[in-house]
Amino acid sequence: MTRLLVTGGAGFIGSNFVHHVIENTDHHVTVLDKLTYAGNRASLDRLPDDRFTFVQGDICNAELVDGLFSTVDAVVHYAAESHNDNSLDNPRPFLDTNIVGTYTLLEAARHHGTRYHHISTDEVYGDLELDDPQRFTEHTPYNPSSPYSSTKAGSDLLVRAWVRSFGVQATISNCSNNYGPYQHVEKFIPRQITNVIRGIRPKLYGAGLNVRDWIHADDHSSAVLTILERGRIGETYLIGADGEKDNKTVVELILRLMGQEPDAYDHVNDRAGHDLRYAIDSSKLRDELGWMPRFQDFEAGLAATIDWYQANEDWWAPAKDATEAFYAKKGQ
Ligand code: NAD
Ligand code: DAU
Repeated sequence: MTRLLVTGGAGFIGSNFVHHVIENTDHHVTVLDKLTYAGNRASLDRLPDDRFTFVQGDICNAELVDGLFSTVDAVVHYAAESHNDNSLDNPRPFLDTNIVGTYTLLEAARHHGTRYHHISTDEVYGDLELDDPQRFTEHTPYNPSSPYSSTKAGSDLLVRAWVRSFGVQATISNCSNNYGPYQHVEKFIPRQITNVIRGIRPKLYGAGLNVRDWIHADDHSSAVLTILERGRIGETYLIGADGEKDNKTVVELILRLMGQEPDAYDHVNDRAGHDLRYAIDSSKLRDELGWMPRFQDFEAGLAATIDWYQANEDWWAPAKDATEAFYAKKGQ
């Protein structure tokens, strides 16, 4: 049995990963999570006591991190400030958690010789034109646009330096936009689903032509587990499921699946510096490690996600009003 430390395991993708690991392996999981506004302990309810431990704490706390590294075989680092709109409002926590937090974990990995997997984003590559035939690959130059994506890019570069300079046993993955259960209502898809449930019209930034490359969070989890088990040390793997869709199409699909008129949404102020298009070429991961996404039908995955939000109002309702108040101040 492997003992895993998962940082940010009470967040959206981290909690999906913890459920995936508990269901598909015999590993023991310790979650280290600060429980910021984005963390929710309820996302980890009902996990078996003999397979799972929860520690509330900050990844910037070197003493705490060092102690936890001495008890595990491998670390998967999800903890981050993750939302672009928040990073435009107040960048400072992004520097603390995404840069200093990653540095703190890398130093512990160096001292303990711990296997370390770093979770990152396709946003480090900047954006593509709508008609560009190229997609992002592991060789695309870094060109981040926002305070969020620039701190993620910085954290990736720290990992590369710690591999080369100190021989840290690390891999990196850069994934596209995730959807699925346990995602905070500040993010695009849950915001629109919960708006419709509340009788609020969905809000589309600008013209809604921006393209995101959607992948189900469970497919992200299976890819990360594959890289942790079989990835080559020092390598970067891009994770994507060929799910490009523009935002307008996604909003119209949500409305249709929820029994509303497909044009029952509002155009609102655009995001400053809004990236136009992301698209991932995940050939390296598929060809080298044999990974394949399981959720190939976006409409079916989205319908299941809508069902989850309809059935779990207790989980998301406490964050909804404050989130909408934040957006209302920005005309979004
Ligand atoms: P999230 O905001 O839902 O969750 C982040 C979690 O990290 C929360 O539980 C929060 O409490 C915790 N956290 C924040 N600061 C912390 C700190 N200083 N110490 C300990 N815990 C802290 O984020 P998410 O969407 O699940 O993203 C997780 C990771 O995946 C991030 O690294 C993000 O960059 C990356 N990623 C996200 C997506 C996506 O579509 N959401 C896509 C690709 C990569
Ligand atoms: O690409 C991976 C990234 O995906 C991750 O690194 C980030 O952590 C994650 O938040 C996500 O970033 P985006 O900025 O793409 O996601 P968000 O859900 O904020 O927005 C998705 C798209 O929808 C984007 O083009 C902005 C738009 N949008 C968003 C909201 C919240 C709207 O049109 N209306 C909205 O209300």
